[in-house]
Amino acid sequence: MEYSLTERDKQHIWHPYTQMQLAPDAIGIVKGEGAWLYDEKGNRYLDIISSWWVNLHGHSHPYIAEKIAEQARELEHCIFAGFTHEPAIKLAENLLSILPAGIKKIFYSDNGSTAVEVALKMALQYWQNIGHPHKKRILALEHAYHGDTFAAMSVSARGLFTQAFNEYLFEVTFIPFSDKSSGEESIKFLETELTKGDVAAFIFEPLVLGASGMLMYEASVLEQYVALCNKYETLAIADEVFTGFGRTGKLFATDYIQHKPDIMCLSKGLTGGTMAMGITACSAKIYEAFLSHHPDFTFYHGHSYTANPLTCAAANASFDLLTKERCTTTIVNISRMQKTFCEKMAVHPLVADARCCGTILALTIRTGNETSYTNNLKQILYQKFLSREVLMRPLGNIIYMVPPYCITEEELVYVHRQITEVLSEIANENDE
Ligand SMILES: Cc1ncc(COP(=O)(O)O)c(C=O)c1O
Repeated sequence: MEYSLTERDKQHIWHPYTQMQLAPDAIGIVKGEGAWLYDEKGNRYLDIISSWWVNLHGHSHPYIAEKIAEQARELEHCIFAGFTHEPAIKLAENLLSILPAGIKKIFYSDNGSTAVEVALKMALQYWQNIGHPHKKRILALEHAYHGDTFAAMSVSARGLFTQAFNEYLFEVTFIPFSDKSSGEESIKFLETELTKGDVAAFIFEPLVLGASGMLMYEASVLEQYVALCNKYETLAIADEVFTGFGRTGKLFATDYIQHKPDIMCLSKGLTGGTMAMGITACSAKIYEAFLSHHPDFTFYHGHSYTANPLTCAAANASFDLLTKERCTTTIVNISRMQKTFCEKMAVHPLVADARCCGTILALTIRTGNETSYTNNLKQILYQKFLSREVLMRPLGNIIYMVPPYCITEEELVYVHRQITEVLSEIANENDE
């Protein structure tokens, strides 16, 4: 007897972010094409969240698949200390051609969390290496999410995700988040902390705080954050793991501002959503602080799969697609459609807040309960959208769209219509 993927999965697998006792059975996916995922029962789902915000150009993109296959026949892996290879060099050249001019070096790791770990370690050791060991405090934004490893958790909001580990996390000063256009309180608080002279780095998600509910703030506030870090000689770390590669309408969220971060963390869209990779990109001054005849100055960090050639090939292929004019036009079109829909939803009686930033759209749905990740509307909304062939994974009572750039106008309109209909359904159920 042949068991389904769902049944076999249930025997052996423990899923992330999942209460295994209560969660519905995992859906067995057998194929992905464009913005669609297909399951073993013949159902399909429009992947409106780019599968955890990673997919840029559509599932199983033939160009990326071909480039990975080509690379697999040449060189599948190679130790990255003492050796190097074309795909890693090409990727560094590609990325440095689109990153801010002050960013000069690329450090490879494995995912978004490790990109953040590396950034924090680099920042702390930087100050030690240049003889300012008293600069060791880290600032982060209230509500931030930077990943699930220990340093990444330390700079993330303390809450549901971290509660079992809070006593093991290092101390961080959190700067109040403000979605007000002036961000006055937030900026003032930051400046007060920076003037104390002991801050090594300020890490922030630029423009959009993703996992905490797609909270958005103005580019003018981001500009001030980075300008103040520059003024008070503190390293600015922009975690562009989510916002990078076009999500906010520009290639990077920090492209909206004039002052530039010293360190940038990249992952997710980096490989077009095909393979895991993290990058920490830094300025020349940081890199140079690690150059010495003395071993103590070395950056002792690395992973077995650092700069894996297959992953680099995938990232280079994704870069080729991303930098084509066609992709730029699509990002502009998606952003325009999201903005129009956002304006329409802003006056919907069930929508407490509608916001968008480039291709990202988020709606906070009114409920009798508090806005939170565990709001019981989450499961209701998730199932309602699945039954309408839409993969939407609400953050509690916040629904959001992070579409892949291959999505067609018709598909976007379809999702917008499903959102409107689901909200009407909920309004009717509330009335009954
Ligand atoms: C801003 C940001 N930083 C870091 C991470 C962690 O990335 P990963 O899940 O690849 O470890 C995430 C993941 O959602 C993120 O949104």
